[in-house]
Amino acid sequence: MVSTKFFAIVAGVGPGTGRSVALRFSKSYPVVLLARRPESYNDVVAQINKAGGRAIGISADATDKSSLASAFEVIKEELGDLQLVAAIYNVRPNSRPSRKPFLQLNQEDLDVSLKGNVYVLPFLEMMFGSREFGPEGIHVAHAIIDGGIDVPDAAHSDRNDGTPDGKISPYANVVIHDISGDEHKYSLDSHGFGYVKHESKEKDFVDDEKIKAEYYPEVEQLLKDSTGASRVFIFDHTIRRATSDVRDIAGQLRGPARRVHIDQSYGAAEKRVKHHLPDEADELLKKRFQIINVWRPIKTILRDPLTLANAHSVPDSDLVPAKLIYPDREGETYAVKPNANHQWYFKYGQRPDEPLFIKCYDSVDDGRARRIPHTAFVDPAHENDPPRESIECLQQSDCIMIDRHQPLDCLSPPLLYTLPESCQQLKRGFSDCKRGMVDMRKRFRGNQPISTSAELEGGGGAAAKQLLGGGSGGSEVKPHKQLYAGKPVFDLPLKEGARGEVSGLGFDEKKKPGLRHEAE
Ligand SMILES: NC(=O)c1ccc[n+]([C@@H]2O[C@H](COP(=O)([O-])OP(=O)(O)OC[C@H]3O[C@@H](n4cnc5c(N)ncnc54)[C@H](OP(=O)(O)O)[C@@H]3O)[C@@H](O)[C@H]2O)c1
Repeated sequence: MVSTKFFAIVAGVGPGTGRSVALRFSKSYPVVLLARRPESYNDVVAQINKAGGRAIGISADATDKSSLASAFEVIKEELGDLQLVAAIYNVRPNSRPSRKPFLQLNQEDLDVSLKGNVYVLPFLEMMFGSREFGPEGIHVAHAIIDGGIDVPDAAHSDRNDGTPDGKISPYANVVIHDISGDEHKYSLDSHGFGYVKHESKEKDFVDDEKIKAEYYPEVEQLLKDSTGASRVFIFDHTIRRATSDVRDIAGQLRGPARRVHIDQSYGAAEKRVKHHLPDEADELLKKRFQIINVWRPIKTILRDPLTLANAHSVPDSDLVPAKLIYPDREGETYAVKPNANHQWYFKYGQRPDEPLFIKCYDSVDDGRARRIPHTAFVDPAHENDPPRESIECLQQSDCIMIDRHQPLDCLSPPLLYTLPESCQQLKRGFSDCKRGMVDMRKRFRGNQPISTSAELEGGGGAAAKQLLGGGSGGSEVKPHKQLYAGKPVFDLPLKEGARGEVSGLGFDEKKKPGLRHEAE
């Protein structure tokens, strides 16, 4: 609801911070946008008015008194009844600070930098002198942006061997549209994604071999039926699982991917065909081929849903190749530059019987959607729900990526001990959670904390082994105490070697040699 009593001014509107600030304020107030050239504010004025807000663009030089006075005349005419609630001075100086290494800066460089910002100084003075306005309800604040903002003309510095600078995204106002009920309007060719109805026999997604033997053929048929493909080759699958405990405590697990990306670059897509089907690649590459990611939730998704940007709203110039270096080959994905024109979609509460097709690549370039950026995002309504499950940590470990072991082998001793600590905590957290569900005492008392700071900070081999439930000795180690009303809840000594697993939870013992070995 836009205010009918107050308005805001943003002086210095351009594609970066000025635009984001204007969009943000326009949600609550009519806004006046100032820049010297209309092309700096025209787009955003149109966007705000189209969205039902109220914006007025005025060409004015915010460093020039008479120009500002004329601007206020226009404001009085247009918004005479309203009171000013906030004035944001976002003017970017014309001169850029020198990009020389710090110790090579000379007096001249410092002068240029200072002069570029000189008109901000009166505002700083005002800030310190502004207490006198306090009784009138006026507050002056100075926001320092201590880093580069990713605006089109902010070139990367060629320092650090050309490594791109980290930049702050100015786009704070991404709207993600829920397409529930309108799924039929979105398809692989029109937008780059599509939801289909399909119930799978596979429900658990824990056994890699079963997935390949039973789930792969199901997906193959589904893709043929949905896209008309004459042949389908499945080269990979990823299962994401995580427990909330682990992520909250370790704070370092990789859960759902929260970076806008495309799974394959154009070049990498062709290389994929050559890599997986070397004998047929030449023939296959003469015809149309697509790489499609079939994304099926294991449980209904409420927290960390997946959002996709309409392929046509993302120009190739927004794609940044990012290499993936494997021991035996090189892959390439695309990172995606932020852009206020990207159109984002998701489906609320996506269920396991509503798999999503994501087009990663289409060899045909005839106006159809060719590739679609996607990412997980935080839905504030479900921020504190249990998280999506993820074993990406495991999938990306050296144990799988470099040494090429099977996931189940990596989860069992001795390979288990080679996993990064975060993956080990994931495993323990998952086990504890399952045990807590069947152990009546735990149902009343709750699970023990997954780790203490000592464990996280490398509390030594014994702590690590206890954490994993591994080790071969029988020596007693002190359990970590969970306090309840100041008293330890768990007083039982834990045997080193006692695992966090219990039988009868649906694990196939034959496939868990580590477990069987330790039980013996
Ligand atoms: N970009 C960065 O990396 C970065 C980093 C740290 C801090 N900052 C600060 O953040 C603020 C916004 O920067 P931004 O890069 O995101 O820019 P922006 O908001 O994309 O654009 C700023 C706009 O200011 C307008 N402007 C410049 N001089 C003006 C004047 N005298 N009167 C009225 N308007 C004027 C320019 O449009 P016209 O040319 O049409 O007037 C320009 O489009 C600035 O204060 C900047 O110093 C930027």
